[in-house]
Amino acid sequence: MTRPAVPLIELNAVSKTYSTGGAAFTALDAVDLTVGAGEFLAVVGPSGSGKSTLLNVVAGIDRPTDGRVIVDGVEVQTLDENEAARWRGRTVGVVFQFFQLLPTLSLADNVMLPMDFCGVHRRKDRPRVARELLDRVGLADQADKLPSETSGGQQQRVAIARALANDAPIILGDEPTGNLDSEAAAAMMDLFDDLVGSGRTILMVTHDRDLALRTRRIVEVRDGAVTDTPHAPATTSPAVNAAAPTPTAGP
Ligand SMILES: Nc1ncnc2c1ncn2[C@@H]1O[C@H](COP(=O)(O)OP(=O)(O)OP(=O)(O)O)[C@@H](O)[C@H]1O
Ligand SMILES: [Mg+2]
Repeated sequence: MTRPAVPLIELNAVSKTYSTGGAAFTALDAVDLTVGAGEFLAVVGPSGSGKSTLLNVVAGIDRPTDGRVIVDGVEVQTLDENEAARWRGRTVGVVFQFFQLLPTLSLADNVMLPMDFCGVHRRKDRPRVARELLDRVGLADQADKLPSETSGGQQQRVAIARALANDAPIILGDEPTGNLDSEAAAAMMDLFDDLVGSGRTILMVTHDRDLALRTRRIVEVRDGAVTDTPHAPATTSPAVNAAAPTPTAGP
């Protein structure tokens, strides 16, 4: 069994309870999870099992009801909303399940937003970097369109480009390929492999078993609880192998 060499993300007994209409619902139930720098995890599980909630507590978007979320040494659950937004801008790129693009901005301007918010890249370089990111997801020729003028799969790829815009060490993808055909999904997986090869850490929610099997570790969420399955990836590339966590010797 492999263990992360350097813990980057640690969830200790994290629970998230929603109370709706007087009834309490447990979306995450005392979850423990440790993710090392440079890991590529697939997060799988049935609809409603808690996958998005898990990503949202790591991103500091949702605050756990109980437990601790420690990301790169920061106790994320202690940050207030403004602190969390600033911290997230430096630390995490999020591909939202429903994209959350701003409808009045062009694709290029959507990708530039995190750069402006986080102050990454020189102001005069941002338009070029945004277009390069759109090029990486195959949308170089669409940069000036509005989201409403593009397909669902194209909007999803813009959301991926935007998640890379702040050059964050952690990328959280909530079904980032859910609207893509298998060829486009495979191309995005190649991009994620490259990012992991250059030191990024990726947590990717997916319903696609084949894509999950391309990662090294599958975390299954079921009724708010996680089970963790390290495994050999179905296809390996030198980049993926180079980023593999080092097994620690047993006692
Ligand atoms: N704001 C909320 N208020 C009440 N319940 C919520 C809220 N957000 C999520 N839940 C519930 O928490 C559970 C987990 O939701 P979550 O969105 O994490 O599921 P998921 O695994 O991402 O599902 P899917 O695969 O459909 O996206 C669900 O049963 C959902 O109804
Ligand atoms: Mg979800």
